[in-house]
Amino acid sequence: MTTLTRAVGAAVGRVEGVAKVTGQARYAGEFRLDRLAYGWVAQSTIARGRVRAVDVEAAGRLPGVLAVITHDNALRLRDSGDPELLLLQSDRVHYRGQVVALIVASTLEQARAAAEALVVDYKLEPHDVVLSADHPKLFAPDHVNPNFATDTSTGDVEAGLGAAEVVIDATYSTPAEHNNPMEPHATTAYWDGDRLIVHDSNQGVTSVKQSLVRLFGLDDGAVQVLSEHVGGGFGAKGTARPPVVLASMAARLLRRPVRVTLSRQQMFSLVGYRTPTIQRVRLGADRTGRLLALDHLAYSQTSTVLEFAEQTAVVSRVMYAAPNLRTRHRLVTLDVPTPRWMRAPGEAPGAFALESAMDELAEACGVDPVELRVRNEPLVEPESGRAFSSRSLVGCLRDGAARFGWSDRDPRPGARRDGRWLVGTGVASSTYPARSAPSTAAVTAQPDGTFVVRIAAADIGTGARTALTQVAADELRAPMQRVRTLIGDSDFGPAMIAGGSMGTASWSWAVVKACRELTTLIEQGGLPAGGLTVRAATGDDIKAQADLVRHTFGAQFAEVWVDPDTGEVRVPRLLGVFAAGRIVNAMTARSQLIGGMTWGLSMALFEESVLDPQFGDYVNHDLAGYHVAACADVRSIEAYWIDEPDDQLNPSGVKGIGEVGIVGTAAAIANAVWHATGRRIRDLPIRPDRLLA
Ligand code: MOS
Repeated sequence: MTTLTRAVGAAVGRVEGVAKVTGQARYAGEFRLDRLAYGWVAQSTIARGRVRAVDVEAAGRLPGVLAVITHDNALRLRDSGDPELLLLQSDRVHYRGQVVALIVASTLEQARAAAEALVVDYKLEPHDVVLSADHPKLFAPDHVNPNFATDTSTGDVEAGLGAAEVVIDATYSTPAEHNNPMEPHATTAYWDGDRLIVHDSNQGVTSVKQSLVRLFGLDDGAVQVLSEHVGGGFGAKGTARPPVVLASMAARLLRRPVRVTLSRQQMFSLVGYRTPTIQRVRLGADRTGRLLALDHLAYSQTSTVLEFAEQTAVVSRVMYAAPNLRTRHRLVTLDVPTPRWMRAPGEAPGAFALESAMDELAEACGVDPVELRVRNEPLVEPESGRAFSSRSLVGCLRDGAARFGWSDRDPRPGARRDGRWLVGTGVASSTYPARSAPSTAAVTAQPDGTFVVRIAAADIGTGARTALTQVAADELRAPMQRVRTLIGDSDFGPAMIAGGSMGTASWSWAVVKACRELTTLIEQGGLPAGGLTVRAATGDDIKAQADLVRHTFGAQFAEVWVDPDTGEVRVPRLLGVFAAGRIVNAMTARSQLIGGMTWGLSMALFEESVLDPQFGDYVNHDLAGYHVAACADVRSIEAYWIDEPDDQLNPSGVKGIGEVGIVGTAAAIANAVWHATGRRIRDLPIRPDRLLA
């Protein structure tokens, strides 16, 4: 009898790593099919109005063009619940960059050339594209994403502020930001008789399949979505996006396979972005920094196509013990592309405001910023009074402070210099919900002693496939080499998307359940000659969960150098400590956390989609104009975690780590910039011109 080392917890390289680095792993835009045609999107050049006419004939005469699909000749689609997918169904233009035609040609270059030559005649209407806190059309949405109350209020926030000895009242803003996964959106679609098969780059085949079933009015079994390898998503691929709908439609109309890929520039209008926010935070405290009142009011934008209400202020419902606590969201509908999810939607911009305000309070009270947070640690969720399944924020703050060397810090701003650089340090807290969603999995014990796990999970680069293999191996008491995990196929049955930091929590639950049932059956009756498959679904298990608040927490520490003459900010050091339940894979988890922190640095200093109010468009729509942190911007980033046993989560005890790493980073950096310079930058990104103003 050999003892088996547990796979869960180990640092395991990606099981598909060799396939990826040798080019064998195929992505959605790489499948070769006979008679494959290429679709290219033509986009509106006005922000609001109507398409009067499209010169289809001229485009149709260009070399290689097979079809020009417009709202006149498009397949009629049915409502799938997402109006953004009702592409080419009307002449209405809702925003600049909207799809007004799809050109299909024999080659990609021919399709693109024809799309760029396409002449569209518009009836122009005046547009409104600028978010402001005094916009006359601000309204309170029905709820904020995904289903939180728009406003909450406990106690009397005005009375609390009135009784406070110290009051902070500050307005912060974050710009529109765009998801830039390495792999742009891509779909290769074909019809096998009446069955639609698509290779699509997405964060979850289940919801994409459901959208296609509804849009095209098909039977559930008539659509298969495959998404085996995905080069990043971050929310932009969370649901069906235009390419999968257009490729499927064109393949139907032309009766041949069609591929639609988006360019980097097209992604800036067609797949969502993080809404800009304006946030007013008011904190009232006694002289020792104990909060009496917290008021967080957030403004954001949506489009005329779809109401998307970012949950910016919900972070303030969870973080600190304030007896008088109010959070509110206001929205304005503009003639802009629809904002959607971007890594830690809500929490990332919301925590910038809250955690900056907490730093301002620490300064005003003369209390150390770590100590201030510890002092305001709640026993239960402040807004609801419900218990946490586990909450280790204080542990993260203490551990991070020790690792970072926080105790040596001189609290005075502008006190430290290193040559020409002003040096400062800052801290902020992180959090993100730790939820699970229903999923199904099947596990097969094969006669040769190996196992196959099938689950419609997505690995968007996170290492999810590897983590699930580890979890299954431990449950099956088999070495990882004997377990193969197949993912990204909608025929495997419904499963949660890789989103909301819920992937591993949700999928591992179904995998564990199936593995346990399989193991029990084999123990009782042995393995049948032909092997044995067990399927499990977790809907009922998730419904039966205790009513608890489940959240990941963390603490992030930043050191910055500021050049007082140029306003240049460098971040030589970021250090984060997180508590996220059990960590399944020490290698890929660390990558997730430092990836989130890197993006937080990018959010703090660089990322900003610049709107041209005249044309209603984000103008810096490429990686030259929209700077994403590159290697030269990043120095030392360290991520640690503390052990956090929690048996109220899911069988694997995981909380999820995809998003918490970006939450709070920008505030930690802005707080460090204040400490270095004495300048409080309340508007992201922290550009040199803002520091020098
Ligand atoms: Mo993430 S924004 O939930 O894909």
